[in-house]
Amino acid sequence: MSETPHNKQLYIETVGCQMNMLDSELVVAALRKQQFELTNDIKAADTILFNTCSVREHAEHKIYSQLGRIKFQKRNRPNLVIGVMGCMAQKDQELIFEKAPHVDLVVGTGQLGEIPRLIDEARGSRKRLTALSLDRKGGSRESVANSFESYDPLRDPEMRPSPYQAFVRIMIGCDKFCTYCVVPMTRGPEQSRPPSLIAAEVRTLAEQGVKEVTLLGQTVNSYRHTEDGREYRLSDLLELIHDTEGIDRIKFVTNYPKDMTDDLLQAVRDLPKVCRYLHVPAQSGCDEQLKAMKRGYTIADYRDMMHRINATIPGCAVSSDFIVGFCGETEESFQKSMSLIEEFRFKNSFIFKYSERPGTKAHGLWPDDIPEDVKKRRNNEMLDLQNRISEEDNAEFIGTTVEVLCEGPSKTATKRGEADTDSPSIQLVGRTDCDRIVVFDGNPRLAGSLVEIDIHDITTTTLLGSIVTRQVNHGLEIDLPVVS
Ligand code: SAH
Ligand code: SF4
Ligand code: F3S
Repeated sequence: MSETPHNKQLYIETVGCQMNMLDSELVVAALRKQQFELTNDIKAADTILFNTCSVREHAEHKIYSQLGRIKFQKRNRPNLVIGVMGCMAQKDQELIFEKAPHVDLVVGTGQLGEIPRLIDEARGSRKRLTALSLDRKGGSRESVANSFESYDPLRDPEMRPSPYQAFVRIMIGCDKFCTYCVVPMTRGPEQSRPPSLIAAEVRTLAEQGVKEVTLLGQTVNSYRHTEDGREYRLSDLLELIHDTEGIDRIKFVTNYPKDMTDDLLQAVRDLPKVCRYLHVPAQSGCDEQLKAMKRGYTIADYRDMMHRINATIPGCAVSSDFIVGFCGETEESFQKSMSLIEEFRFKNSFIFKYSERPGTKAHGLWPDDIPEDVKKRRNNEMLDLQNRISEEDNAEFIGTTVEVLCEGPSKTATKRGEADTDSPSIQLVGRTDCDRIVVFDGNPRLAGSLVEIDIHDITTTTLLGSIVTRQVNHGLEIDLPVVS
């Protein structure tokens, strides 16, 4: 196919979860190999990609209105290729062309490897193209699973959260089918990647200077893969990658409460590089709601899990997700969720108003019966409670010293333009091993290293402190706070 000349400027916009951030990194890396360059200016780009999310209606609306805004750009720019990739592409398929006829490509989560070829083909042929996996009911489990490919080629450091942090996919898909959730449809059947591939990827990342890896899976602790006759669970995988030279920290998200087994908790306790932080969404504090959500556990089970976490890993931070206003949520059910937050004092909670998703069990079974203003009120009340708890628990850190992996300039420093100066001290940001955000002043060269910070103030989301420098004096080690 003859290729129309174009400037190879790529604009990409990403919404959704960490899986999507990783997918965008990988797609950009593949396109760079074809001499594409990234641009932040959508008008300068001749290839525009949207990596989309379908988990709530709002996320889809945002993309459709973005698509609407660029509709007229096609008129005078015959070379422009517009692609929609990711979860909404897999879910809405050809409907995207109906709603946004100027879109050229629709590429699902299991077909991302096709993108470089499809961009060229679309530009050359000016035909609309799709690359989609089978629907969950579109064939045997095996054929559906085979139609979703894990896409994990070479990496692109510029697209990472920071040059020192990288995501590593250990699983794709989800088989839990919570009744409210679209992810099993958009990401396909649950499949774990081979441990040897994951370990090799972690080694490559470490060689590129990465210090912290976050293992990703929709239910990451359901990981299971048999290789060379040995079954690996997440605990085994953590052990396998733990001693990778150059890696200081290992995290994993998101956990499914039912699969939080003792071997995993013991691995977190015994492997020093594994962060003492677990994201284990409860979703609700009410058994009837959990049953309707088909989460597969009761509050008694969740409580047992929390006791095992606290008994095995003292000081472990736990964070959660909650859905408010799910079908049939009474005031009493909602108060039970509030009590759960009081009882377990989560480090933080991501709180979502229920969004009805066509194609899910809940959509077929029950009306979305909680009015928007009630959802909003419950959302705000829960947020207030969680913020109060986060603030109180953060206050416990005042006067302590914490070890922080410095990620680089804070958002404030970046906004003020200080990040690009050679100033010897700017505002930096990093995290403790229990995932608390820490802001402090220091030399930007500290990015990527572990630093000790004295905490002297806090907010609901952040610990504020200053660097402790160690000066060795006649064999005595003295802590000197740096005056900022
Ligand atoms: N795999 C992860 C979460 C995936 S989606 C897990 O199981 O924990 C991230 C969060 O979005 C979920 O934890 C849930 O709280 C929320 N969510 C999912 N579907 C939703 C919906 N239809 N409406 C509102 N929130 C939803
Ligand atoms: Fe969705 Fe449930 Fe799977 Fe999480 S476990 S992705 S909430 S279906
Ligand atoms: Fe959204 Fe897909 Fe992630 S629906 S939350 S981007 S798996």
